[in-house]
Amino acid sequence: MRILVTGKNGQLGRSIQKTVNADTKIGNNQSPNEYIFVCREDLDLSSKSSISHYFDNNDKFDIIINCAAYTQVDRAEQDAELANQINHLAIKQLANIANNQQAKIIHFSTDYVFDGESNKPYIETDTPNPINAYGRTKLAGEKALQALMPINAIIIRTSWLYSEYGNNFVSTMLKLGKERDELSVVNDQMGSPTYAADLADAILEIIKHKKFRDVGQTTQIYNYQNEGDISWHEFAKEIFKIEKIECEVNPISSHQYPTPAKRPRNTLMNKDKIVEAFNIKISNWSSSLNTCMTLLKQQQ
Ligand SMILES: NC(=O)c1ccc[n+]([C@@H]2O[C@H](COP(=O)([O-])OP(=O)(O)OC[C@H]3O[C@@H](n4cnc5c(N)ncnc54)[C@H](OP(=O)(O)O)[C@@H]3O)[C@@H](O)[C@H]2O)c1
Repeated sequence: MRILVTGKNGQLGRSIQKTVNADTKIGNNQSPNEYIFVCREDLDLSSKSSISHYFDNNDKFDIIINCAAYTQVDRAEQDAELANQINHLAIKQLANIANNQQAKIIHFSTDYVFDGESNKPYIETDTPNPINAYGRTKLAGEKALQALMPINAIIIRTSWLYSEYGNNFVSTMLKLGKERDELSVVNDQMGSPTYAADLADAILEIIKHKKFRDVGQTTQIYNYQNEGDISWHEFAKEIFKIEKIECEVNPISSHQYPTPAKRPRNTLMNKDKIVEAFNIKISNWSSSLNTCMTLLKQQQ
């Protein structure tokens, strides 16, 4: 199978590359899959003509894994048009192309499609109600994909993604914690961090699974985040504990830390559907954080 992965320099794109390389090295990759990883310069999702040009000039794909996205949540408030082009209109175009090529799509969305007011973990069929521009563009992308591809696509909603690559909450805390004696971090936004390497493993499991490979499967949304329920404040404390950083973490409320984009209060998601459909095991956030931080240390 020819598998296209967009966003190759992003956290998830890089994590998938690492997993694919490891899988090939240990000889697990029995199927003759060919992965093609592309970046913005190869395929620019902000440009209709770049998207057409890329697919017109390349052989057909069997699967498109779309890791590229406009992910700057605060900046999206002012940049809603560009965010909408990348997170919504480009998805429409990808869906039409996938239909023409009879390709499947694996696409990613966010816990920020929800308003966070639920006191229970969100299930896939709960009604979305995004409270920021980023969430609205991601929801529009989900809806466009479902409308244009009623079969052959899956949408994975994830949350609080971090990895050993690029800028994320873990790398920001490590930097700030080494510079300062104390920090204030919000303690009234609850959710679960997701280690990008765990999500990459899950994607490879899904691709191997019969339920995904069978042609004509109804398009589905699945939730994926690591197990456990914490606040950003607890997450920061654990990062410092693992790294033995002496930095006091003061709990504050979201009101004390205003940001251009509002954040949902509680975005814990129920993962039963993806676990049952693809027989996936999901690690607890704490063990995955330890794994990521061990790798970060080795890179230093
Ligand atoms: N990060 C999170 O906390 C989080 C939470 C929930 C859901 N998600 C979703 O999970 C997915 C993966 O997120 P991530 O954290 O891996 O994102 P990321 O690290 O920000 O990477 C996004 C990638 O998209 C690429 N990109 C941006 N604009 C593009 C354009 N116009 N054309 C082509 N590529 C473009 C970026 O390219 P450059 O490297 O050139 O900038 C980057 O490689 C996304 O769908 C995101 O919405 C993320």
